[in-house]
Amino acid sequence: MSRHQNRPVALVTGGTSGLGLTTAERLLADGMRPVLFGRSRERGKSAVRQLGGEAVFVAGDVAVEGDVERAVAVAAERGELRAVVNCAGRAHAARVVGRSGPHSLKEFAEVVTANLTGTFNVVRLGAESMARNEPVAGERGVVVNTASIAAFDGQIGQAAYAASKAGVAGMTLPLARELAGLLIRVVTVAPGLFDTPAAEVLPPAKRAALAGLVPHPRRWGQAHEFAHLVAHVIGNPMLNGETIRLDGGLRLPAS
Ligand SMILES: NC(=O)c1ccc[n+]([C@@H]2O[C@H](COP(=O)([O-])OP(=O)(O)OC[C@H]3O[C@@H](n4cnc5c(N)ncnc54)[C@H](O)[C@@H]3O)[C@@H](O)[C@H]2O)c1
Repeated sequence: MSRHQNRPVALVTGGTSGLGLTTAERLLADGMRPVLFGRSRERGKSAVRQLGGEAVFVAGDVAVEGDVERAVAVAAERGELRAVVNCAGRAHAARVVGRSGPHSLKEFAEVVTANLTGTFNVVRLGAESMARNEPVAGERGVVVNTASIAAFDGQIGQAAYAASKAGVAGMTLPLARELAGLLIRVVTVAPGLFDTPAAEVLPPAKRAALAGLVPHPRRWGQAHEFAHLVAHVIGNPMLNGETIRLDGGLRLPAS
């Protein structure tokens, strides 16, 4: 994409940290204008400082209609919204029958709300805006969602997280089928282990043990490798309606 004034805009949720921030950085380098959406104003400020003048931050929660409407409106003010990248999400671990009783129903619903309802909220509002674009090379826009390999091989303790991410993977095809009529593609990335602030909370021994499960390369993925795939998805018009595992061949064991 050229670096002229009418840079296409990319809305990146969870864009102030981890996979989202690195993806926003990559899309900026590729000639897009990122709108970073996230909950922390402090992280938002520091991300915009890191990315420079082309990036803006909008504070909000992906599962709140008005917050995402505002983010989409800001994106539309800055140019044509051509890509929506959903990286916002929260991790969660709890047993269904734990020492202190059954899994909290409230927590289950909160994880599904953030990871699945939030993703859907951004897709529906982002797609409505992209539907107004003039097609360029036969496309009006691209949606890239983030699931997890837990969507397919969730571990003990991941019932809520795996269910939320399986929902993201599951809606990929119906979204792509419907939005095809609007010339909008939908692809989901299912990352394995990626070295981000979310992973830094794990003790070093646990991190090393997890890395040892990855067939090749035997290590945690780097955020720029995720961003590289997102950039490829945006640029490759034949990718649509699919969930792509990005995991070095890892299949998670039960625990
Ligand atoms: N890092 C990994 O190993 C890994 C593996 C599989 C999937 N993922 C997924 O990748 C995505 C990015 O994760 P990350 O590793 O970069 O972690 P991260 O914690 O650095 O980024 C997640 C971001 O989402 C934001 N967020 C969470 N809930 C939100 C909400 N309701 N509204 C708005 N923002 C919200 C957080 O504040 C944070 O900025 C997540 O969806 C995560 O589930 C990560």
